[in-house]
Amino acid sequence: MNETKNEPLEAVWWDGDAVGFIDQRALPHELVYGRATSVSEIVQAIATLAVRGAPCIGVFGAYGVALARRLTSGTEFADASARIRAARPTAVNLAWAVDRVLAAPGEAYLEAARVIHDEQHAVDRAIGEHGAALLPAVGSVLTHCNTGGLATSGEGTALGVIIAAHRLGKQIHVYVDETRPLLQGARLTTYELALAGVPATLIADVAAAATMREKKIAAVIVGADRIATNGDTANKIGTYQVAIAAAHHGIPFYVAAPRSTIDFTLASGDGIAIEQRGADEVRTFGGTPTAPADVAVYNPAFDVTPGHLIAGIVTEYGVARAPYAQSIPDLALRPSLHEVLRLHR
Ligand code: MRU
Repeated sequence: MNETKNEPLEAVWWDGDAVGFIDQRALPHELVYGRATSVSEIVQAIATLAVRGAPCIGVFGAYGVALARRLTSGTEFADASARIRAARPTAVNLAWAVDRVLAAPGEAYLEAARVIHDEQHAVDRAIGEHGAALLPAVGSVLTHCNTGGLATSGEGTALGVIIAAHRLGKQIHVYVDETRPLLQGARLTTYELALAGVPATLIADVAAAATMREKKIAAVIVGADRIATNGDTANKIGTYQVAIAAAHHGIPFYVAAPRSTIDFTLASGDGIAIEQRGADEVRTFGGTPTAPADVAVYNPAFDVTPGHLIAGIVTEYGVARAPYAQSIPDLALRPSLHEVLRLHR
């Protein structure tokens, strides 16, 4: 464990001849650092959720391609890049980042990965600014899964919005869904909110609807893994039922995500591949068996919230509103923040 690496909390980084990362499986009890030194270790870190969150696996995959190029060439390199690209299927950021690195002129892969990483920080800051305006001056919000810096290797998306609002002096109290089965909310979101000094209360996922009513939730804000051009949004399993409960209570339900999470090739969420994960994630709790060892399990890692349940989608360009079939395709035409920043230098 490298004790010097935690200021600020950066989820992944280039480490000379390896890609460094915080092993998110050990949090919040231990801050463990990992080093992926081979393509298999890159793929393994993504598949096991040691590195997770849609933008973060994009940044990590981008560095992974740069690493792969140092270790391989020709068809071996093409295979390695394809394996990284396919390490998880739902978050489009991973394929987007791998493709962007592979398109780098002169095979400047590491430089391209660094640009994606720098850009993620700028994008997250812009999302935080745009989104903070949506939250009340005083009130409670609810979130699902983990969307902080750990999930982006930047400042975070939905959680970045909450933290930005807190820094602006808004008195926000956050209700955090624990996010079964892998507890990203309980383990990671509460940890990041505590680091940022934002008051938070952990709830079981099954308490979300009751909390909305009893605690007068003013807004729900979550991240995304893939957004179709009609606004349909894939995010961590459980998001859909939170959106339905929010609609029932008349609570605005917001999504915060970078443009790189939008799949401009998809007209609706029907085409989003949903990752199916292992049965033991559901048959156990924290490693302890909680169900018959042979019971059948359905364990989709993500669900799709229909666009009509979403009050606004916060990107680095502002808040996109319905009709999304018009507002989302427009975003494809905007210059990347990196281009904008370079133009203004
Ligand atoms: O399986 P995970 O932990 O990678 O799922 C993460 C989520 O669903 C996040 O909400 C999403 O990736 C957005 S992260 C800014």
